[in-house]
This record gives sequence, C-alpha cells and structure tokens, in this order.
Amino acid sequence: MTAGGVIAMDRLVTRVAVLPLAATDLDEVTDIEARTVTTGWSRPIFERELVDDGSRCYLVARLAEAAAHDVVGYGGMQMQSEQAHITTLTIDGRFRRRGVATRLLVDLLREARARGAESATLEVRIDNVPAQRLYAGLGFRPVGMRSKYYHEAIDAMIMWAHDIGGADYGRLLRQRDPVAVWRTTADDDPGKA
Ligand SMILES: CC(C)(COP(=O)(O)OP(=O)(O)OC[C@H]1O[C@@H](n2cnc3c(N)ncnc32)[C@H](O)[C@@H]1OP(=O)(O)O)[C@@H](O)C(=O)NCCC(=O)NCCS
Repeated sequence: MTAGGVIAMDRLVTRVAVLPLAATDLDEVTDIEARTVTTGWSRPIFERELVDDGSRCYLVARLAEAAAHDVVGYGGMQMQSEQAHITTLTIDGRFRRRGVATRLLVDLLREARARGAESATLEVRIDNVPAQRLYAGLGFRPVGMRSKYYHEAIDAMIMWAHDIGGADYGRLLRQRDPVAVWRTTADDDPGKA
C-alpha cells in the first residue's frame, strides 16, 4: 500500500484475495458484467450457478486491503464428469493486465484437478485476442468453431486443455501462478519487494 492508500498496480495480483463467489457479491459482479460484457449474464443466471450441487465452482477476486474491498474480477466453471467447462471470466476494466485473470484461472484449474478433471474447455469470441492469449498461456488450444454463437452472429472459438490432471500440467500451473512469479522476481530484486 502506498502512503495514499492506493495499491501499486504492478503488485495488484499479490494484494488480491480469491474467495468463493457469494450471493452478497452479486450487486458488484452484475454491475461489472453489465459494464463489460455485451449480452453478459443476468443476476438470475449467476444465482442459478451459485446453487451448491457440487458441480460448479465460482470465485471472486477482491482487493484484500482496500477499505471498500472492491470486486476486481470473477470466474467460474462447471464440472461435467472428468471435464471442466470454464463458463465465465471477467476482470473489471480498471484492473486488467495485472495477472488477476491468470490468478483466477489457475485457481479454477487447480480446483478442477482436485475434483478429478482430466481436460478443460471453453468458448471464446473469435475476435477476443486478449482472452485467447490468456487461455493459450494455460495450455488451451483451439480445436474448432461454433458458428454465430454470440450476439451479432460472432463465432466462438472452442479451446481445450488436455491432460490437466497430470504432473506436467501441475508444473505449468505453478509456473504461470502470477503470485509465485511475482514473489520469485521480487526475491531476485529486493528493490521490488
Ligand atoms: C480477457 C481478460 C479476462 C484478461 O484479464 P486480465 O486480468 O487483464 O489478464 P492477465 O493480466 O491475467 O493477462 C494474462 C495474459 O493474457 C494476455 N492478455 C491479457 N490482456 C491482453 C491484451 N489486452 N492484449 C493482449 N494480450 C492480453 C497476455 O498474454 C497476458 O499475459 P502478459 O500480461 O504477461 O502479456 C480481461 O481482458 C477481460 O475481462 N475481458 C472482458 C471479458 C472477457 O473477454 N472475458 C473472457 C471471456 S471468454
């Protein structure tokens, strides 16, 4: 925290708490969703996904030290047998490119492994290059398209990550974990700590 109480943006990901998404988060979450995602999820859709039947996992990232405990982003998945389906992942526009989506995705994929997942899949807009790069960094590869899947007839790219239950994938998650990466870099350079 700086003297003015503002978290330095390069350290943001280390100051974010990742928690299970709760009904009390939904005012902030649906506000971000409405501002950010064209034809995003409505409150009833989020509420339906929060029903605890063991097949879903939704996480929220909050500023851990800020007075307002602002929601920074959120994401979730549904488990279908040994497959994890990443259903949503959004970061508030003020907090992007600081590793928070990677942090949420790493945590979701760790949870998927813990629940026995062997593969993970998702759909992403064909024109959403930032998200495609994020997913590629965690081993997702394009395998096909869904024609006119999104609003205004935008196609979806279908991406899969295979063998996510194995040791190699566990290593990839450790390498990509932005908190671990930041700490290692800070250890190398005491000036950044
Ligand atoms: C896509 C999104 C979730 C990324 O969130 P984020 O917290 O900024 O992502 P990260 O900081 O963890 O970035 C991880 C990697 O993704 C890629 N990436 C993220 N934003 C990018 C951008 N604007 N341009 C290019 N690559 C980008 C980069 O490879 C980045 O790694 P780097 O910063 O080391 O280069 C965010 O932009 C968002 O919420 N977009 C709107 C909603 C959305 O598209 N969700 C995905 C639906 S499938």
